Amino acid sequence: MNMIQTSLQLPSMPRQILVTSALPYGNAAIHLGTMLEAIQSDIWVRYYKLMGHECYYICADDAHGTPIMLSAEKAGISPQEHIDKMQASHIADYQGFLIDHDNYHSTHSDENRELVYSIYQTLFDNKAINTKVIKQAFDPEKEMFLPDRFVKGECPKCGTKEQYGDNCENCGATYDPTELVNPYSIVSGATPIEKDSEQYFFDLPQFESFLKEWLAAGHTQPEISNKMQEWFEDGLHPWDISRNAPYWGFEIPNAPGKYFYVWLDAPIGYMASFKNFCDKKGLDFDQFWNADSQAELYHIIGKDIARFHTLFWPAVLHHAGYRTPNGVYCHGFVTVDGQKMSKSRGTFIQAATYLKHLEPEYLRYFYASRLNASIEDLDLNLEDFQQKVNSDLVGKVVNIASRNAGFIRKRYGNILADTLDQPELFAQSIEVANQVSELYEQRQFSSAMREIMAYADIVNQYIDDKKPWQMAKDESLTVETQQVCTTGLNLFKQLMIMLTPVLPKIAAESQRFLNVDPWTWADLNTQLLGHKINNFKPLLNRIESSQLESVIEDTKAALQETPAAKEDDKKAQATTSDDSNAAAKDNGYISIDDFSKVDLRVAKVIEAEPVPEADKLLKLIVDAGEGRTRQIFAGIKQHVSPEQLIGKSVVIVANLAPRKMRFGLSEGMMLCAADGDKLFTIHPQEEATAGMQVR
Ligand code: MSP
Ligand code: ZN
Repeated sequence: MNMIQTSLQLPSMPRQILVTSALPYGNAAIHLGTMLEAIQSDIWVRYYKLMGHECYYICADDAHGTPIMLSAEKAGISPQEHIDKMQASHIADYQGFLIDHDNYHSTHSDENRELVYSIYQTLFDNKAINTKVIKQAFDPEKEMFLPDRFVKGECPKCGTKEQYGDNCENCGATYDPTELVNPYSIVSGATPIEKDSEQYFFDLPQFESFLKEWLAAGHTQPEISNKMQEWFEDGLHPWDISRNAPYWGFEIPNAPGKYFYVWLDAPIGYMASFKNFCDKKGLDFDQFWNADSQAELYHIIGKDIARFHTLFWPAVLHHAGYRTPNGVYCHGFVTVDGQKMSKSRGTFIQAATYLKHLEPEYLRYFYASRLNASIEDLDLNLEDFQQKVNSDLVGKVVNIASRNAGFIRKRYGNILADTLDQPELFAQSIEVANQVSELYEQRQFSSAMREIMAYADIVNQYIDDKKPWQMAKDESLTVETQQVCTTGLNLFKQLMIMLTPVLPKIAAESQRFLNVDPWTWADLNTQLLGHKINNFKPLLNRIESSQLESVIEDTKAALQETPAAKEDDKKAQATTSDDSNAAAKDNGYISIDDFSKVDLRVAKVIEAEPVPEADKLLKLIVDAGEGRTRQIFAGIKQHVSPEQLIGKSVVIVANLAPRKMRFGLSEGMMLCAADGDKLFTIHPQEEATAGMQVR
């Protein structure tokens, strides 16, 4: 037999490593998309810890900003109460998915305030902060300045309607909210006015050469480096780090009524959470954050927030006298069944909903089996998910333990043999482990899982060939049977050590079963011989289709409870992560996107007369404040008399495509409400003026 004796590769020196995930916003529940990042980071950190490195996983809630302020207001609670609740729910979700943060803090904390102030002061003293008076969108009803994504209107470049104030989804143009045509505030619906306002800017262009050096040093994935290259070519701009009151955040010192923009204090929250951790544990914060720190710092983030982490953040850190990250690593977005996560399809699955029906380790394994170091999106196809987990985890790995444990218990009093049947199979596991550890290190988790499962196939093949269930019937093979089962269980242990970062709970249960202390990577060298184990208990059940159906149903039900409220939330958060258009197809709802395409305006009825040739039609001439009148044919002849309408205000759909009818052009639609057979016309209050947008 040709035996290759590979030795297990272990680190020669422990490294100091700090890993962060993006801080989730304190106004939305964790869903399976946000959980991807936590699972990716957690696996990586657990791997480093298993290897014996000094590694810490730090996170916090991102607790500032306008959406949080407005959500709290809407819920009738203080922002503090709101963020406390959200933080508690986030922590519970993370724990449910076995995410082992070393510290979980909040950006609304004393540590963060102090760090933000001191960093700002240093930047200020170093002339990296400028002020400038700029025009900003202001909601005259709500009396507040509007963040970019709180203003919608028509794209100034291509005219597409319903575009946010920062960029056009149709033509990709970027612009200021004040450039939008026919803008409106998504908070009140009012037309924003422009107001002068003095803002504070971080002078990013000053740091171009530093950032180019940082980029050249290879701290980002190739896709992100290319993106940065583009940003440089487009030219860097000063970054507005201030927002006007009312704002939920930290007030800027010596600038009454001005607050730090949430994206300034959020990344500093990484430091603040670590500071909080150091204070509790007696660790040296400076050793990790000083400019000359030898500790490693990695940020794991979604590709949507790369700019904040690869331009602003390194520049702020460097110029404030701190170290910069060794790596900013982006992942792609989770799609479900090939599409954006959607509430109406029941695929906008919240972490808590999943956990009601399914084991966390199913998803941890599935994500691991799909994750690599690129920024590609990752599809959670529920059939693949079920199939992958059932076939790999239940069918291949856990199965090895259950196939061998029974014989060891019944025939050998739970005592393992003194020698292995095939030591070369054990030696092979070391080779596999060496490859796997390299793959973990490079965040090539899918390849790592493939290697592990290929080895599990070999182990299962070995057991199939030996057939311990037949050997056990032959008295003369007593010793051999024990050796075969002992080999099977030792190889199971090897597999479970390698899978520990992904399956921490099953690993812990396996340690109990095998009667060993919590293992490290070095325990791959240990053979369990002449060793007493415990009774085997099932480690994992198969995923049943009914469990998946329950998750989808619960997710849909959560939407159906308060569809309007949910859509409102979305508006307030101004996120774009939901494909709500699917709602229309699925259940008769129209999505907020559909609805917001409808331009409702107040119009005054100037003339109204029946159309003699038509049973149902009235011809209306209305003034919608456009400097011209419109002709509208309305099918309401049987319900209202023309006299009832003349001189009254009504609501019209102003952007309905004009329709040529037998009697002339109809340039809009008048809104009515039906109650059974009855029809009611709708009349805005007296104060309304023609042309005013309704919403
Ligand atoms: N609060 C900011 C981050 C501040 S970091 C200093 C934020 N929060 S978030 O809650 O919107 O997103 C948190 C992380 O989850 C981000 O990295 C984001 O990219 C990621 N994801 C949000 N939806 C996701 C998917 N559908 N799929 C994968 N990741 C997703 O951004
Ligand atoms: Zn456009």
